Amino acid sequence: MEIGFRLEQPLAGASFGGRIHIEGASGALAVAEGAEANPTALTEALASCHGVMVLPGMDAMAENPALLVRLSRLFGAEVENYRTTHMAANMVHPEVPEIFVVSNIPPVFRAPPPKPNPPLTPEGTLPVQFPHRRGWHTDQSYRRPPPDISLFLAVLPVPQGQGQTLFADGIAAYNALPEATKQRIATLDGLHIASGAGRKYDAVKSGAPQRDLAPHERPVRQPLVRTHPVTGEKSLYLCEHGQMDWLEGPIAGLEPGPDGEGGRLLVELAAHYTHKRFVYAHEWTKGDLVVWDNRCTLHAATWFDAEHLSRVMWRTTVWGNPGTEYAGETKSWLPDMEA
Ligand SMILES: [Fe+2]
Repeated sequence: MEIGFRLEQPLAGASFGGRIHIEGASGALAVAEGAEANPTALTEALASCHGVMVLPGMDAMAENPALLVRLSRLFGAEVENYRTTHMAANMVHPEVPEIFVVSNIPPVFRAPPPKPNPPLTPEGTLPVQFPHRRGWHTDQSYRRPPPDISLFLAVLPVPQGQGQTLFADGIAAYNALPEATKQRIATLDGLHIASGAGRKYDAVKSGAPQRDLAPHERPVRQPLVRTHPVTGEKSLYLCEHGQMDWLEGPIAGLEPGPDGEGGRLLVELAAHYTHKRFVYAHEWTKGDLVVWDNRCTLHAATWFDAEHLSRVMWRTTVWGNPGTEYAGETKSWLPDMEA
């Protein structure tokens, strides 16, 4: 039987995103086969809903992790093999090295982020807007070229009401900017860096000692405004406190540091990008697969009760179509590829 994919959009409670309904079959294997038979169906659906798409009912991937990789391959030429990119072994699936494991239990032991302070907004809702909400980022923006797509599977989610994943729509946020701001940022670059480099906002603000960085750890420039290579739409592209270089940046060519002109602009843009009108909060159900486009969205994790609950999520990362500004670039971020 032929499998159809119907996109319901937007996502509940949001102004963007979509939920895929599968017609004619069910289960992860049928979805992978159906998607391979019609390889543009899911990629076009993702592009049409500003880059966040939910596929429920993918539970069988937990027993057959290769299926997650198989579906991931439809979204780009290369699914990252975390073993070859020097990821710590405890974070990588033991049999399928394309799967990055996000979990608070052994052997990963990754803690969730703290609750925001205060934990709720004055209206009693989950805080989403930076700086009340921290941790907004787009995956691996400290690499050039950065990855296109991430897929995130709920193998063992925590109960709803905690452990949500927040997404923000960078295309709508860009379109809503005042014309003067669009002009001001049109040719500016952000300086992105991995959080482990010690150049987060808080570290620099507190005057923490800085260490020398190896060439592959150096900050990379990424445009503040990216043109989506599939849709041609413009999107904001930035992170906030944890994944920008607050020592030399966060914005190339503007006064650096937490109190500089670049920092003020970055904070203003991050607060705008994560305003609740651009945000979707995903409450996880076991077997949910969420696919997002790192070129035009931000995401953030939320707190869950890690003392009493176990959570296991699997992520894959897909590369291949970053846009013309990255044409011809190789993976300069790999330490064994240093000049
Ligand atoms: Fe992420």
